[in-house]
Amino acid sequence: MELHIVCIPGDGIGPEIVAEARKVLDRVAKVYGHTMVYKDILMGGASIDVHGVPLTQEAIADAKAADAVLMGSIGGDTNTSPWYKLPPNLRPEAGLLKIRKELQLFANLRPAYLYEELAAACPLKEEISRAGFDMLIMRELTGGLYFGERKTVEENGVRKAYDTLTYDENEIRRIAVKGFEIARKRKHKVTSVDKANVLDSSRLWRAVVNEVAQDYPDVEVEHMLVDNCAMQLVKDPAQFDVILTENMFGDILSDEASMVTGSIGMLSSASLNDTKFGLYEPSHGSAPDIAGKDIANPIATVLSAAMMLRYSFDLDKEADAVENAVKQVLKEGYRTGDIFSDGCVRVGCRQMGDLLAERIV
Ligand code: IPM
Ligand code: MG
Repeated sequence: MELHIVCIPGDGIGPEIVAEARKVLDRVAKVYGHTMVYKDILMGGASIDVHGVPLTQEAIADAKAADAVLMGSIGGDTNTSPWYKLPPNLRPEAGLLKIRKELQLFANLRPAYLYEELAAACPLKEEISRAGFDMLIMRELTGGLYFGERKTVEENGVRKAYDTLTYDENEIRRIAVKGFEIARKRKHKVTSVDKANVLDSSRLWRAVVNEVAQDYPDVEVEHMLVDNCAMQLVKDPAQFDVILTENMFGDILSDEASMVTGSIGMLSSASLNDTKFGLYEPSHGSAPDIAGKDIANPIATVLSAAMMLRYSFDLDKEADAVENAVKQVLKEGYRTGDIFSDGCVRVGCRQMGDLLAERIV
């Protein structure tokens, strides 16, 4: 099979981790008889430096023409980087929001899983972490506060800013369907998270989720307020299977969920539209402080590439091979600095990529 993949190395550690994911994909291609056709595009600060904007129309066209996009990370240090002196619509993050919207990537899947080998890194009490956990946050990605009308104005000498949170029922229905579909492939449970005790958009969210649930009698559905969910994630993470939620709540809860796994350097994500197309990126950021030092953890990007094989190309066997390689390398005790503990072997980004690629069988 020929896989047309657009790569966005991006900023910070992005280029390093994408290089290792490609190393692993190339090995998959060799072992399983596929051809990878890559094209790099610029996004974020890397694009600002060359084109003055965080994402060009040409780059969007290239992404649209591919089967899938593999991304590293974008952005720099918000305190020191000159990119953050630009108006908000020209900063690195605007490129990411633009590609999500242009490609209609409304469904963001963020798995958070406690690896047995990394259980020691889990910051929760042992009596809680002992149960393990394996959840997937299904975050709506192209609506809500991120894309609602916003403005900063001055009224009678007083500065005032507003952002609007809007959802229509179709936007809610399509993400809910994705949530229930994926729950069917997992533990058959959806926890829909909202703030229905305060927000109209949440009350509509809850109503539409209940309508969709009618079509999935085999999936258990529950509703949880977002503040309670934030608490439950640290109190009893094992209760969750699929967490279905709107854009902003999903942004916040997915960082929390990743933290309780103890290793944000391990977490992958997929952003999907209604076709097989997807954008795959690690859940972590660009970590400018460790860029170029060969110490970043490439595993989240490698696992994102595995999600790409699974969701965009239906290559389950190949995706399994990548995920097994990760488990194997961890079992053998190899660790990058972020997940290092006593008795393990510390390796750099490139060596981790080599080890993973060698274990693709
Ligand atoms: C994420 C990030 C982005 C978001 C930023 C970089 C705009 O935090 O993917 O979670 O808020 O969606
Ligand atoms: Mg975030």
